[in-house]
Amino acid sequence: MAACPSCGHENRDGAKFCEECATPLAAPARALAEERKVVSVLFCDLVGFTASSEDADPEDVDRMLSAYAEMSRARIEAHGGVVEKFIGDAVVGVFGVPAAHEDDPERAVRAGLRIVEGAEELESVGGEPLRLRVGINTGEALVRLGASAGLGERLLSGDAINTASRIQSVAPELGVAVGLSTYEATAPVFDYEELEPATLKGKQAPVRVFQAKAARARFGTDLTRTHNTPFVGREVDLALLKGIFDKTVASSSVQLVTVVGEPGLGKSRLVAELFGYIDARPDFTTWRQGRCLPYGEGITFWALGEILKAHTGILESDPPAVADEKLAAVLPDTDEREWFRQRLLPLLGIEASSSAEREELFTAWRRFLEGIAEERPTVLVFEDLHWADEALLAFLEHLADLAEGVPLLLVGTARPELYERNPDYATRLRNATPINLAPLSQEETARLVSALLETTVIPVELQQPILERAGGNPLYAEEFVRLLKDRDLLERVGSSWQLKEGADVPFPESVHALIAARLDTLEPSFPAHHAPTATWRPPRGSSRRHPSGSKTWPTCSPTTTRAPSTSPRRRERQSRQKSSRDLPCASSALPGNAPSASTPPRPWRVSSGRSRLPQSATRNVRPLWPASARPSTMRDA
Ligand SMILES: Nc1ncnc2c1ncn2[C@@H]1O[C@H](COP(=O)(O)OP(=O)(O)O)[C@@H](O)[C@H]1O
Ligand SMILES: [Mg+2]
Repeated sequence: MAACPSCGHENRDGAKFCEECATPLAAPARALAEERKVVSVLFCDLVGFTASSEDADPEDVDRMLSAYAEMSRARIEAHGGVVEKFIGDAVVGVFGVPAAHEDDPERAVRAGLRIVEGAEELESVGGEPLRLRVGINTGEALVRLGASAGLGERLLSGDAINTASRIQSVAPELGVAVGLSTYEATAPVFDYEELEPATLKGKQAPVRVFQAKAARARFGTDLTRTHNTPFVGREVDLALLKGIFDKTVASSSVQLVTVVGEPGLGKSRLVAELFGYIDARPDFTTWRQGRCLPYGEGITFWALGEILKAHTGILESDPPAVADEKLAAVLPDTDEREWFRQRLLPLLGIEASSSAEREELFTAWRRFLEGIAEERPTVLVFEDLHWADEALLAFLEHLADLAEGVPLLLVGTARPELYERNPDYATRLRNATPINLAPLSQEETARLVSALLETTVIPVELQQPILERAGGNPLYAEEFVRLLKDRDLLERVGSSWQLKEGADVPFPESVHALIAARLDTLEPSFPAHHAPTATWRPPRGSSRRHPSGSKTWPTCSPTTTRAPSTSPRRRERQSRQKSSRDLPCASSALPGNAPSASTPPRPWRVSSGRSRLPQSATRNVRPLWPASARPSTMRDA
């Protein structure tokens, strides 16, 4: 018997429409696949909306709400989030579904700041600027894959949305407030001010809330980062990198190096060590660095734009006219000046008056960079090439292939995804060398942990869980130690440290996000013979307590599958989970079980079995372009 939701008539079982009033009767609940995921929820609410709309014309209210909804949706989606729902005058956005990115909290905060900017351009029904508040919260939620808001199905469960809404309620007007997890994940990227602790419904203790004021530089945590820890291991990789630089200088040749490794393995650090080596030499070298961005508009050649800006001294805040002037100051004083200018302006985000084909742009950019290297040895670093568009990769190949007679070293850093998406990148080139980073050994990781704890002796009860969980990944080792310190779980014993009584090594959210993001980048369908093998294992202890102490992490994997599903990505993930469960040593993750010391676990290692890394090879560059074709007088800014 199914009661009609409209007229209450009792219908036969199985009836699709009410026999009395033809209202559609609810379809039986679909079985939806569920996953536990760490998401960042953005909750945005208008201030004083009810009061201001009370006496207003409903059409005006509707127009205002539509403009506001459209603006916030566009800004959430531009940062890779999805709109979960609109509730009256509130907008709920989620970052981390369907695919997680390791920088979801950062994306959410950026979207929040952009929504506040957008509000200043909109009007409320009374004609004043729109006033709103944004709250952001990062935490675990149960995500229903394929849920449809139209069918009344909820995308998220858990108190993530509620908490975001409460955090929103303590944000200042036209302000973005975030909870502790979001703050911890994004503290290096934004300027924050701590607000009064807020009492949130359902939470006993007041929680810490922070206001995001502004983004620091839009890019370049890697560029500006100072590394405080001693550099351990990697002797051979560093020697190779230095050797290639020396060769570039000695033979005035172009070389392309790609440092490849999973997140946190030390790609940027290796490049920073090369910088240290070059910086200590008596001869001058030009070093320029740019980074590929994972999202946003007009980012295809962003990294190259950054390099050009660094070279010309253009600041992010410079208006176009100033940028143009600074560019003009480094252009060659020949009749090709305007030709260069027109082709370089687009890299600065300024429209050129004459358009050019890609090949011509590439030629102009290459010749400009050759001009820089002609002055003195030059290193150009392209960080995070796994986010690069095909067009930027094509330009790098063009540059490495055709630039000649100048000491120019091109260094890229990339995660293995680069080769999963572009298996042929740089393989054609004979002056290209990949450097594939392996995990640090147990002994090297232990040295790093000692340095992080500023001690030479670490008790095995403390060292072992960190070594196991870090799996040779220096970033993970750093994050675990940082969390132990931040959460006050360590106590000093003489000159050493030990875990406090009853404390367990928690699982940092940043590490969790990196693993989840990596899982989500795996392509949905793998040919059966490429099915991933048991090379990936969950971090030991990932089933233990959530850092908040209130929840447990999913067992075996950052994502836990509840309902069966037929999607290839899901099947692939399930098979990975199964194989990781099948590992005999997985049981040693249980407290009290001794770990198997022979093979260090590599929780971050996710292998699709597909990455094909190119073989290393070197060559002398073919001279194709006469040296006279290059601009001769260029100033190094
Ligand atoms: N060989 C190493 N010795 C000491 N610390 C390292 C080493 N490699 C990386 N690190 C540290 O680990 C963190 C992550 O390294 P990073 O180079 O940013 O990783 P990636 O660029 O591969 O994501 C940094 O804080 C870095 O200083
Ligand atoms: Mg890096």
